[in-house]
Order: sequence, then structure tokens, then C-alpha cells
Amino acid sequence: MRFAPPANLDAITGDRLQALLRTMPKAELHVHIEGTLEPELIFDLARRNGVALPYADVEALRTAYAFADLQSFLDVYYAGAGVLRTEEDFHAMAMAYFARAAADHVVHAEVFFDPQTHTARGVAMATILHGLARACREARHTYGIDASLILCFLRHLSEADAFATLEAALPLRDLFVGVGLDSSERGNPPEKFARVFARCGELGLHRVAHAGEEGPAAYIEAALDVLHVERIDHGVRCVDDPTLVARLAGAQIPLTVCPLSNVKLRVVPTLAQHPLAALVAAGIRATINSDDPAYFGGYVNANYVDTFRALPLDARDAYTLARNSFAASFVEDSAKARWTDALDAAFAAA
Ligand code: ADE
Ligand code: ZN
Repeated sequence: MRFAPPANLDAITGDRLQALLRTMPKAELHVHIEGTLEPELIFDLARRNGVALPYADVEALRTAYAFADLQSFLDVYYAGAGVLRTEEDFHAMAMAYFARAAADHVVHAEVFFDPQTHTARGVAMATILHGLARACREARHTYGIDASLILCFLRHLSEADAFATLEAALPLRDLFVGVGLDSSERGNPPEKFARVFARCGELGLHRVAHAGEEGPAAYIEAALDVLHVERIDHGVRCVDDPTLVARLAGAQIPLTVCPLSNVKLRVVPTLAQHPLAALVAAGIRATINSDDPAYFGGYVNANYVDTFRALPLDARDAYTLARNSFAASFVEDSAKARWTDALDAAFAAA
């Protein structure tokens, strides 16, 4: 793979840099598909499926999007996901995301889904996976986006529930590339899912986990040492442990960072105080992602643009972050090289 930065980086500043952030090709590696459900679609699906919502209209729902912490968000997020019932619903939700991702010049997306929040309501695993996988196939034809799915276990539920979910998904093993771990982090350490993740490793599934979002830096270490994950989702609390920062940088463990999410969920007080610039400067393989864009005020380009406005990040960092998004993805090296070449071309033309 060619990882030589383009020559003209110092000349790209101000409006040129802002434009390039929007148009450069990028991968999105941390987006929960249920977190892309816009209020309008929530109301459409609720009407279609006869689901009662505790909000009078779209505006009232949007007003509820003021969060004190991760749990207060998750309560609203799981309630919103309750409108999803049919394969067509899952397909429509994912196609709406891909349309927005295409507008943001996303060329590759690894998309999380939370099956347990749907199967608990009686929705079949096949309904979820067939709807989402059909959208992934369509994303390639319609938008030229390469997309794959990552099945996330809800960490506030039991190990037994996670094993049952894995069993239910295995007949459709070809439709997802990996597993993740999300939901309420504090009090639900990685160790709780050691055996599930070991089984997923035996099955050849890629492994990632949310760690160090609200939880301590020790959860990041446990995700690496106990769950054997290849990437850490969020991971920003690593800044509390300089030894861990050195380890992440040394081993080039990717972090899928979500700056707007971190502000909305009060992981950091403001974007200007976000540790992303420090993580990049420390040599960590960080990426920029949207997490739950319908709830947090913007898709991946908004995360890039707002973060670059708030922090001392330059064109070299933009190149590094986009390049990292390809390097950290679960695709063959030839695809990484092709997208990195396209990134080089975008910088050369800027
Ligand atoms: N599920 C959806 N978004 C999440 C987040 N930011 N953290 C943990 N679980 C989530
Ligand atoms: Zn997340």
C-alpha cells in the first residue's frame, strides 16, 4: 500500500481545507444503523406499523434529543427503534443512510446493527438481516458504496442472551463480517463477554467493541486483552493512561472516534476540548465517524468539518484521518490501496 502523503499539504488551508474535508473519499467505521433513523422516518414507520409514539410530532421528538449522558440517549434511541417491524423498514432505514453517506463521499461503510433490541419485540433475525443486507447490495449499485454489517451485542443484557443472538444469526453468517459490543458501558465490562467473543473468533468473525466512551481506560485494555478486538470504538478515555496511549500508538490499534457524539453525550464538555488532535499527534490510528447521526446533529462530514473548525488540525491530519479510515477497515488490501489512491488524487486536485 502507498502511504506517502501528498506534496502540497501545507498549501491547503481555510476554505480549501473545509471543501476537501467534504469531498475527499472516506470510510465510515462507526455508525449504528438505528442511530440514523431521522424523526420523519420514525413517524412514517410508526404510522405504517400502527406503533404509538409518546411524542405529538416530529418537532416534539426532536426536542427530546437533549441528553445528559449515554443512558439518557439510549432510552430515546431504543424507543425510536421500536417502530422497525418489517424487512422493508430495515431496508428503508439503511437506504436513507446510504444516500446521506454518498453525499458525504463515503466509499466504504461498516455498519453496526443491534439485533437484540428488535428480536426482543418479536422481529425475526432474518427480517433484520435480509433487509439490511439487501440495502448493502443496493448501496453498491445505486451509490458505488461498498458496505458491510457488524452485529453488536447489547452489553447491558446477559452473556446467555448474547450467545442466543449469535446462534440465531449463524444461519445468516455470510451477511455480516464481524461482531461488536455496545449499549450501557459502565458496570458492563468487556470480561462479561469473554466467552462469546472467543466463540466469534473461532468462527472467523472480526471483533470490535465500544470501550472508553463513558467507561474507564481499563475497559479499553480488557477489550484488547480479553475480547481480542481489532478496533476500539470511541476509546477516548485512553487519555487518562499515558501507558495505554503509547500501547495503542505502538500497535496501531484503530480508534473509531465520534466527536459530535462525545459532545452530545457529555463525554467531553465542548468540541474544542476533544482529545482527537492530541490522539492524532500521539500517533494513534484515529478515525472520524458519526455514531448516531440522526440524534447527534450531523453525519460524517459534519463531524469532520466541525472538529477541524474547533481543533488545531490541518490538511496533513485530514489526510491521515481519511487514510486511517481505509487502513482500519475490514477489507482486502487491494480495496484499501484503491481508495487510498483516490484520496491521493483528491488531495492532488485540491
Ligand atoms: N449504541 C448506539 N450508540 C451508542 C453509543 N454511543 N455508545 C454505546 N452504545 C451505543
Ligand atoms: Zn457507537
